[in-house]
Amino acid sequence: MQDSPPRGPASTDDKIDYACDIIDRCLATHLWYSVSEARNLTRISRAVLMPAQPRSNRFRLPEPPLTASTKIPFIDLQSQYRRLKPSIERRIQRVLDHGQYILGPEVMELERALAAFSGARDVVTVASGTDALRLPLMAESIGPGDAVFLPAFTFTATAEVPVALGASPVFVDVDPTTFNIDPASLEFQIARIRREGRLRPRAVIAVDLFGLPADYDRLGEICHREGLFLLADAAQSFGASLGGRRVGSLAPVTATSFFPAKPLGGYGEGGAIFTDDPARAAIYRSLRAHGAGENRYDIVRIGTNARLDTLQAAILLAKLEVFEDELAARERIAQDYDHLLAGHVAVPPRRPGATSAWAQYCILVKDRDRVAQALADAGIPTAIYYPKPLHFQPAFRQYGDGPGSLPVSERLCLNILALPMHPYLDRETIERIAGTVIAAVTVPAVKT
Ligand SMILES: Cc1ncc(COP(=O)(O)O)c(C=O)c1O
Repeated sequence: MQDSPPRGPASTDDKIDYACDIIDRCLATHLWYSVSEARNLTRISRAVLMPAQPRSNRFRLPEPPLTASTKIPFIDLQSQYRRLKPSIERRIQRVLDHGQYILGPEVMELERALAAFSGARDVVTVASGTDALRLPLMAESIGPGDAVFLPAFTFTATAEVPVALGASPVFVDVDPTTFNIDPASLEFQIARIRREGRLRPRAVIAVDLFGLPADYDRLGEICHREGLFLLADAAQSFGASLGGRRVGSLAPVTATSFFPAKPLGGYGEGGAIFTDDPARAAIYRSLRAHGAGENRYDIVRIGTNARLDTLQAAILLAKLEVFEDELAARERIAQDYDHLLAGHVAVPPRRPGATSAWAQYCILVKDRDRVAQALADAGIPTAIYYPKPLHFQPAFRQYGDGPGSLPVSERLCLNILALPMHPYLDRETIERIAGTVIAAVTVPAVKT
């Protein structure tokens, strides 16, 4: 018997039509459908789709575009440093004074502070977000012959970790209303892998793209039913919440990154693993320190070196002091962008009951490269996350099913554009950026 997705269109052609339909309507109307409307779309028929209510532009009209000489940063770490300079310098000096550069007291202090902030019982800091994904998969003994399901619309690290352990990534499409892993596509891929019988389904890595948590209620149900390990890749979402619970306590195990550009970023590499399971936490602590047991020369498993530097922990402790305030600023800035841009471009999706950490503020625009060039000409940097879905990347092509197999991910890569986003963006700059975007999408391209 043929498996088909439990919800949504059955054939690949239908799926492409369905994805393009939603994204085209967003581009044409500049409005996102609510999640329930999109669910109706998948369950009933496209005809029931009604656009969401337009939002009003409550700010004054944007200023004329910036000139190239007034460059603005994409992420402004200097403003944050000026704010935190005394605290950062005091904390760094303390580390230099005690000299415990590896697993010093600041590392334990940071782990306690992150646990209190997130609501997770245990936090194990590690050397990068990539290590925060790698250690939990190592602890589950994931390796050759195992299938790890993950979205195609993500950063390469999500897929590179299972491959490095010898496992096979199975790419899953994303939900056009959240950009996160689509539970219906996940169920379809699990059924396909089971039917083919070549790989053992073992784990799901959900990514909280751009800072918005994935649908952990549905993902938790699917993983429980299918006996799969659920790992949250929260590299972009630390500080976000869902149903009143913070990232770190939404999945059995969560990985985050402290890469400098992340919502909570250090001045170098860093990451952390969150779990409520003390047995797992103990294994992660052992794995990050070469598989040590009772002491560092008692080697009880094959581990690695994945410890967070004490100096990075000290810097992150200083940054954590203002993190709540920075998250509130990111939310305010996102709302300002929304109000200025809604009706002109498709603004980022939101989920009822969820807050985003706003690692990125991404719009969808039709003529993306021309709009990006107009912004660059006005001294406004943009970024494209991501120019290709992972199953199109040469390194991962062998694991995917080629063009047309994951239509939403493929389509988003053509239209997505990230605007400057950081907690120190002032209103005037936001209005100038929005004004330049609006001018670029309004003025038709000049024919030569
Ligand atoms: C979704 C996602 N996963 C994993 C990572 C890896 O984090 P790190 O660069 O700290 O290793 C990143 C970093 O950009 C990311 O965006």
